[in-house]
Amino acid sequence: MSDLTFTYIKISIDQDVLTLTLNRPEKLNALHPIMIQEIDAVFEEIVPLDSIKGVILIGEGDKAFAAGADIKAFQGLTSEEAQILSQEGQSTFLKIAQCAKPVIAAVNGFALGGGLELALAAHIRIASAQAQIGLPETTLGLVPGYGGTQRLTNLVGRGRALQLMLTAQRIDASTALEWGIFNAVVSPSDVLTTSKTWMLQILKQAPIALRECIRLVLEAELSGGQAMPEEAKSFGRCSATSDFIEGTTAFLEKRPPVFKGK
Ligand code: COA
Repeated sequence: MSDLTFTYIKISIDQDVLTLTLNRPEKLNALHPIMIQEIDAVFEEIVPLDSIKGVILIGEGDKAFAAGADIKAFQGLTSEEAQILSQEGQSTFLKIAQCAKPVIAAVNGFALGGGLELALAAHIRIASAQAQIGLPETTLGLVPGYGGTQRLTNLVGRGRALQLMLTAQRIDASTALEWGIFNAVVSPSDVLTTSKTWMLQILKQAPIALRECIRLVLEAELSGGQAMPEEAKSFGRCSATSDFIEGTTAFLEKRPPVFKGK
């Protein structure tokens, strides 16, 4: 994405944190296929830059994070085309889940269908008290197609995941917090600032250790918790870094650590 112009998203960078805004408020930020391509390009080409340390995802406006995949774009798809649409979304959302840098979803309103699946791909979710979430795909004769059947089940277990999918009903922010889908719920005006505060707290930690935690937790998801040998290897790798020496030394010297990502 060399010219950095987008149709359906906006990006901004502040204090090494890239904020990616889904920018289609008149359609409640519904995820048009071009929007997904743009998100993909950002995670492929911009997020890996050394100058970017973390990412916040948010929706434009005060009503929605994203009200789902663009239902209009579903019309007229052949089965093969629908499968490709799902695979492309899965591939982009996997890049988010696998991003070596922390990704926070600032869920500022409705996160439905693909919008919830996008939030689920992030590592942390900070939500507005007005947020509502759900997987209403069954009302459209569909299943969630961007990883939601897997990620939601991993996060909340089979019973609650099936509750959302089979009833197609939304739950409110406090219920989502209780279920562990949201990490925190704040007043609507505080969603972005709280997400930034969390991000800056995360970025105080050693970058290699952060990257390894994200990778190991994802590994647990993929392998059903069979990643103990990987965890031990990572522990060994982390202990060979300068940041490990700095972190342990700083603790013993009662001072804040200065990490270099080495
Ligand atoms: N795809 C395409 N367009 C969408 C959309 C989606 N997923 N969600 C909302 N929109 C559009 C509406 O069609 C409407 O467009 P219009 O003004 O041109 O008619 C606009 O966004 C505003 O939505 P509207 O339904 O009028 O807002 P509301 O406040 O009455 O209802 C929701 C809000 C979220 C309850 C409702 O929009 C909704 O149910 N959306 C679909 C949710 C869904 O099924 N998502 C899963 C998709 S896989």
